[in-house]
Amino acid sequence: MAQSTLQKRYHVTTFGCQMNEHDSERMKGMLDSLGYEEVAERGAADLILFNTCSIRESADSRFIAHLGEAKRLKSEDPQRVVGVGGCWAQSVKDEVFERFPFVDVAFGPGQIHRLAEFLTQDSLSAQGYFEFEGFPGHLPAKRERRFQGWVQISVGCNCACAYCIVPQTRGREVNRRPGELIAEIEGLAADGVREVTLLGQNVNSYGRDLPAAERTTFAELLGRVDSIPGIERIRYTSPHPKDMREDVIRAHAELPALCAHIHLPLQSGSSRILKAMRRTYNRQRYLDRVAQIREHVPDCALTTDIIVGFPGETDEDFAETLEVADQVGYDGAFTFIFSPRRGTDAAAMPNQVPHAAKRRRMEPLVALVQERARERAQRFVGRTMEVLVEGPSRTDPSRLRGRISHNKTVNFEGAGQPGELVDVEITAATSTTLSGHQRLLSSVSPR
Ligand code: SAH
Ligand code: SF4
Ligand code: F3S
Repeated sequence: MAQSTLQKRYHVTTFGCQMNEHDSERMKGMLDSLGYEEVAERGAADLILFNTCSIRESADSRFIAHLGEAKRLKSEDPQRVVGVGGCWAQSVKDEVFERFPFVDVAFGPGQIHRLAEFLTQDSLSAQGYFEFEGFPGHLPAKRERRFQGWVQISVGCNCACAYCIVPQTRGREVNRRPGELIAEIEGLAADGVREVTLLGQNVNSYGRDLPAAERTTFAELLGRVDSIPGIERIRYTSPHPKDMREDVIRAHAELPALCAHIHLPLQSGSSRILKAMRRTYNRQRYLDRVAQIREHVPDCALTTDIIVGFPGETDEDFAETLEVADQVGYDGAFTFIFSPRRGTDAAAMPNQVPHAAKRRRMEPLVALVQERARERAQRFVGRTMEVLVEGPSRTDPSRLRGRISHNKTVNFEGAGQPGELVDVEITAATSTTLSGHQRLLSSVSPR
């Protein structure tokens, strides 16, 4: 039974974005340093943790179903501790213990370190921690992959997108000091990390709240990371189109480690809807950014996020989204049905789009995005691309899986080890995946 061994065991389920992946690695690192051991089965854990997301209703309902299982496990063994962290916890902070009395500890995204405090106190009585107090950067991390690391450069968001719950759950934007970030990334490099992903809700607004003596723009930060020995790939997510300046775009052309991929969330192709969303750019400004990217870094992969069925969206507005998606030709896109979120302005707007219309619009958009992504991917066929090996292919374990700088997954025949950079000749491409075979030095034949 759960408490029959001396060493306490924990299980973490992570929902949501890379921020949460990052935070969960910190939670795990912290629990390991408290002497806990991670287990693969929730039923075998003394401490059941959830790191939650609330971005769309589907995220909430998925999590609530999991929480039901934790309730059952806790009723079987009341010694078990159930903890809920992350954005959902933050967004229901006033009601979490009322609605879910079996939860022992709840904490917001800025409160991971409090979990240790909670677990080491003498008696465990239910507690919630919700004030942002600091970055988990100082906490130990248990990285999923030895050669890849997340680095949180900022927390929170100062934008006011009418549909989005994140400013409520993660608060105002706070940037970490550049010196601290560089030291953390140097530490990661010394520990074998070759690819870092810089994380923030709006990464390219980085630096604006720093003291004058330390003021560093996002482009300058990228330059400093690029010069760290051992860091061979830099990714970041997400930039906001309104802050995507030419210096960052140029950095993609100039910095050898900066990956050939930009995720530039469009949300809608209609200037009228963008205004209602309060995105602060219009269709033309977005397209100008894309043109600038194509000019400086022609081969750069572009991906995006699109919301369908924002309140007031007409068939004409949606047709404009299709036009922009067609014109840009994304390498990939996440498409979402608008989901009204508690406390957001969009949820209270009177002109909600009926669900059937949202679903109807989704279909041609997904088809178009896939078609354009498939076409775009053909440019890799016949080329030899550098691939960072991640492990065995998910569909065929006799093959390997990795990613190219453009963030496309490649399944290939080869002999590389996870964490190695290898050359792969690309022989086929679908909208999401490439395939090929590794070019071994000894077998390179003249062509
Ligand atoms: N800070 C990031 C994205 C955070 S959320 C950025 O601005 O790019 C990731 C994506 O979820 C958003 O880009 C948006 O497309 C989608 N999203 C956010 N709120 C949503 C909602 N209420 N309904 C549907 N999709 C939403
Ligand atoms: Fe949400 Fe907009 Fe901030 Fe992104 S930029 S986190 S969509 S409020
Ligand atoms: Fe979800 Fe919070 Fe990320 S709401 S998408 S986990 S910032």
